Amino acid sequence: MDIAGSRVLVAGATGVLGGALTAELVGRGARPVLAGRDLGRLAAAASALQDAPTVVFDAYDPSSCARAVHAGAARLGGLDAVVTAFGSVAFGTAEEVGDDIAEHLMAVNALAPIAFFRAALDVLEPGSAIAALTGVVAQRPQPGMADYSASKAALSAWLRAVRGEARGRGVQVLDVRPGHIDTGLADRPLVGTAPPLPAGADPRQVVAAVADALSTGAELVRTTENGAAVVERRDR
Ligand SMILES: NC(=O)c1ccc[n+]([C@@H]2O[C@H](COP(=O)([O-])OP(=O)(O)OC[C@H]3O[C@@H](n4cnc5c(N)ncnc54)[C@H](OP(=O)(O)O)[C@@H]3O)[C@@H](O)[C@H]2O)c1
Repeated sequence: MDIAGSRVLVAGATGVLGGALTAELVGRGARPVLAGRDLGRLAAAASALQDAPTVVFDAYDPSSCARAVHAGAARLGGLDAVVTAFGSVAFGTAEEVGDDIAEHLMAVNALAPIAFFRAALDVLEPGSAIAALTGVVAQRPQPGMADYSASKAALSAWLRAVRGEARGRGVQVLDVRPGHIDTGLADRPLVGTAPPLPAGADPRQVVAAVADALSTGAELVRTTENGAAVVERRDR
């Protein structure tokens, strides 16, 4: 995908990674539409980006995710990429986390991004892309984060299967699976307390790698043990 001039919807643009990724893409010439749940935070994010258009969704309402895609496409006269950068985390043993939080995590971290992409696949043309922030836990589920890991693994599995469907249509499917990044997400869990975490990757490096991956048609962004962001052409 050619980022310069591309029309990109970033869902979760009010978050640290979503905001940094939007700024990175704009810096490379993209035209963004910002999607988020809070009008005030969306307005603040938009004002830092030449009053970029905004659309509202709540991850707990899949129909609002689909509506956000269609509204975003209407605002920009079409879309070339849809990126999801929102999510919630919870810490604790399986018993401590419980069914209600597990349901919340699966809805916000898996079903909502899937709803965005299902709608996106309906409107995207060949040469476009979908991309999701999943996380290394999708591949290496962690004790004390079972339900968070399971929600990310569910989204990652969906992306992998859909990649096979989308390839024939010329739509890139990018899975962004970094390890810990210094964004403060771990300090904002739904429940529990984060275990000791390794030094986090630099958000700016990760979003630059995501932009590189979008522009080269890559399938995976991951981070190494020392936090370096790596673009992999194929997600094997
Ligand atoms: N930070 C890490 O270490 C790390 C590592 C791997 C993957 N990730 C993933 O990267 C993504 C972004 O995380 P971040 O570190 O940038 O955290 P963040 O700054 O806390 O951003 C979280 C975003 O999710 C949005 N959000 C949460 N619940 C929502 C809901 N019900 N409806 C709509 N939006 C909702 C927040 O919206 P508000 O602004 O309205 O609160 C915010 O925009 C997440 O999916 C996370 O799992 C993070």
